[in-house]
Amino acid sequence: ESYDMGGHDTYMHKEISEQADAVDRVLRGRIDDRFSTVHLGGLNLDAREARGVRRIKILGCGTSYHAGMIGAGLIEELARIPADAEPASEFRYRNPVVDPDTLYVAVSQSGETYDVLAAVQELKRKGARVLGVVNVVGSAIAREADGGMYVHAGPEVCVVSTKCFTNTVVAFALLALHLGRIRDLSVADGKRIIDGLRRLPEQIGEILAAEDEIKKLAEEYAGAQSMMFIGRVRGYPVALEASLKLKEISYIHAEAYPASELKHGPLALIEPALPTVAIVPDDDLLEKNRAALEEIKARSGRILAVAHREQAKADHTIVVPKNENELDPILMGIPLQLLAYHTALAMGRDIDKPRNLAKSVTVE
Ligand code: AGP
Repeated sequence: ESYDMGGHDTYMHKEISEQADAVDRVLRGRIDDRFSTVHLGGLNLDAREARGVRRIKILGCGTSYHAGMIGAGLIEELARIPADAEPASEFRYRNPVVDPDTLYVAVSQSGETYDVLAAVQELKRKGARVLGVVNVVGSAIAREADGGMYVHAGPEVCVVSTKCFTNTVVAFALLALHLGRIRDLSVADGKRIIDGLRRLPEQIGEILAAEDEIKKLAEEYAGAQSMMFIGRVRGYPVALEASLKLKEISYIHAEAYPASELKHGPLALIEPALPTVAIVPDDDLLEKNRAALEEIKARSGRILAVAHREQAKADHTIVVPKNENELDPILMGIPLQLLAYHTALAMGRDIDKPRNLAKSVTVE
């Protein structure tokens, strides 16, 4: 991949379109079918050390933080290690307790984000082990970390991150699988996840092929003053990332909430003028998510669902291909990148260079 626009009108469109190949690259050479696991030599963490990890703390900013949230969920599900993500920009200012049995993971596309770098330096000064999940090879965070993995998304030029988000989540799936297979994840489940990972590039292609349909929806929603994004558990970071994407390039105000929190406050906002984008995967929480759609519909809210089948309560459903439950968030975010893109395009925004933002924030 190059910095050339390759026939696209914007870098964002080019980068969204490259995601099937990019995912192929992050997987390449890492899967070991003999043991249904993956090889991540760059972690510099042997099996004995990996078994000693009691907790994982993931640090990143913006989109990388959202990818880390999905990563934490994958690590808990597949490796059963307690894990959470926190904005590095908050972590570095709150004098955190640094625990020797915790493995810290710094996430960054550019590898130069100052808030993340400062968190890594503080952690290392206190003797913590820090891994990097980074896109740019040889960047400051990659050099500072004790080990890690590159996400191989290729150059990302557009200020808003798209393909790197997807690849970072896939990288976390590999890390979770690796840690899981060292611990209690069965061979059968390892194989199930590997098969799911291998299906991703083709399924991404299917989602991208529906661009015209998403463009029409975007044109319809482009008039909204504000939008709500909801998701539950695995779907919540997808909602957060989709809302950030829309804000960054369209300047439409957007909020993301866990679907379960609606009744604790934001339901008061629901009315016909505030559309809701709902992440509704076909998993164990489907009925709960459908109940949230009913709550919104009862208040005459418009609903755009991203789901694995048509949702009766939604005004529109973008149907995405089903993968393994754990990997579904990777696919469900992609149509919402296109939704943000076409919304911003319909509003005549400068998509690659949104106002007030820089590609990498290398200052305090
Ligand atoms: C993404 O669309 C953003 N522009 C921004 O939130 C970005 O993800 C954040 O600044 C972190 O950047 P990094 O991944 O290069 O560290």
